[in-house]
Amino acid sequence: MTVDMKDIVALCKRRGFVFPASDIYGGINGFWDFGPLGVELKNNLRDLWWKHMVLCPPIGPDGTPVEIVGLDSAIIQNPKAWEASGHVGGFSDPMVDCKETKLRYRADHLIILHQEQGNPQDLRAVTFVEGTSEEDISKRLKKLGFSPNISDYKTFKFFDFPYVSENLDKIFGPDAKEKGTLTPPKQFNLMFHTFVGATAGEDNKVYLRPETAQGIFLNFKNVLDSTRVRVPFGIAQVGKAFRNEVTPRNFIFRSREFEQMEMEWFCHPDEAKKWFDFWIEQRKKFWLSLGLSEASLDCRKHGQDELSHYAKTGEGTYDIEYKFPFTAPGFGELEGIAHRSNFDLTQHEKHSGVKMEYMDPVDTSKRFIPHVIEPAAGLTRGVLALICEAYTVDANRPSGMYMNFHPALAPKKAAILPLTAKEEHVPLATKLYLELREEFAVDLDIKQNIGKRYARQDEIGTPYCFTIDNDTVTDGTVTVRDRNTMAQERISMDSVAGYLREKMRA
Ligand code: GAP
Repeated sequence: MTVDMKDIVALCKRRGFVFPASDIYGGINGFWDFGPLGVELKNNLRDLWWKHMVLCPPIGPDGTPVEIVGLDSAIIQNPKAWEASGHVGGFSDPMVDCKETKLRYRADHLIILHQEQGNPQDLRAVTFVEGTSEEDISKRLKKLGFSPNISDYKTFKFFDFPYVSENLDKIFGPDAKEKGTLTPPKQFNLMFHTFVGATAGEDNKVYLRPETAQGIFLNFKNVLDSTRVRVPFGIAQVGKAFRNEVTPRNFIFRSREFEQMEMEWFCHPDEAKKWFDFWIEQRKKFWLSLGLSEASLDCRKHGQDELSHYAKTGEGTYDIEYKFPFTAPGFGELEGIAHRSNFDLTQHEKHSGVKMEYMDPVDTSKRFIPHVIEPAAGLTRGVLALICEAYTVDANRPSGMYMNFHPALAPKKAAILPLTAKEEHVPLATKLYLELREEFAVDLDIKQNIGKRYARQDEIGTPYCFTIDNDTVTDGTVTVRDRNTMAQERISMDSVAGYLREKMRA
């Protein structure tokens, strides 16, 4: 069953996963804050990714673990880096403005419904933002005095519509009452800029990074010179990226400030295809291991028209996609795995004058600029996928739903619940809580009746609740309640830590 995004957004706010940024001032479009539970969930995903990449990287095709080191580079770099990387010239989206509503749209996200009238000049065409529900499309067509029956129309992507540039004056914009209010598309650079130092001029203009990847390329030489890594190897980084998206939407899916988890894998050009296949497989496995289901994941090769400037010289890009409620039955990008060839290192060599060649340590007569395979995942988007996957409707429990997080990802691993606020129960619960919190994120929840406390823990996805009752006082056992099955069993209080440790393995 597809869950309604409205319910997910409401739960996220009610229980402290995600809040609109600047909420008390009415928010700011494209920016979000992670609340007390959201930050725990996000950190857990980040830490599992770091473990998979840096601390315990996968076993390579030759049977030995691959080598990856970490990095944390600055958000603001020398602006020449962004000229070299192609972002100043090429990191833009086509946009159109609506003169009537003052709204702005990504032209490549617009679809046109066109009703054939015999004469191709006699246009009856209406634009919609991709993903608009059929019900909303029908309603709008009817309002404009058109047939509400979608099968009466031919559907085009904005740029594929044969008459688009000559006939904008006859086309209705997605939210306009009048036709002919859309401007011709123009390119819009997505990088935010600011100024360093006291004066604001072109000379001290700098950019907020739109991807974490470039910080890695800029440090390729430093890492080689300061560590014992040898090609093939990877450099991994997690951090904020900023894009002035034309149309931020779908909650935290497309925002203007977000986090990425990126790894650049440097290898010999002849081995790039092998490593490309390897990383596509590994990354799919990673997301499956976190509980995303096979049915909700897809792996898709980019079409030529979707390729980023850096992927054009390589073998292309694969996207790992997730079936989000707002894309279903379709899929939305979760992670891109790109074959960047030697594009970035070559560009930085040209623009900085610093050699980026790698010298084979065995045969020093051999030098080459490594090729790069890049698994680039969204941390923010990953959190959204985990939240959507976890949201489980269940009419048989007071909360009506529960969050089915993998225990390793759940913001709280367990709740310690004294059955009553009686003198005997609370000290025992507090003792267990103080022991467990050294190792696990746990909650001690004393107030309210036990049913309400279980309901709250179900809503935040706590996998285990340990209840302290009169039997605990006499025989030292506690009740464990399993979140998903609601089944209860008794175990000894001494074995609780071991029990949780076993369940946390991802
Ligand atoms: N270094 C390559 C790169 O940045 P990308 O496909 O543009 O590639 C990688 O971004 C990932 O970052 C995406 O798969 C997505 O998960 C995430 N991402 C990109 N733009 C985003 C946005 N506006 N909001 C949230 N996540 C975004």
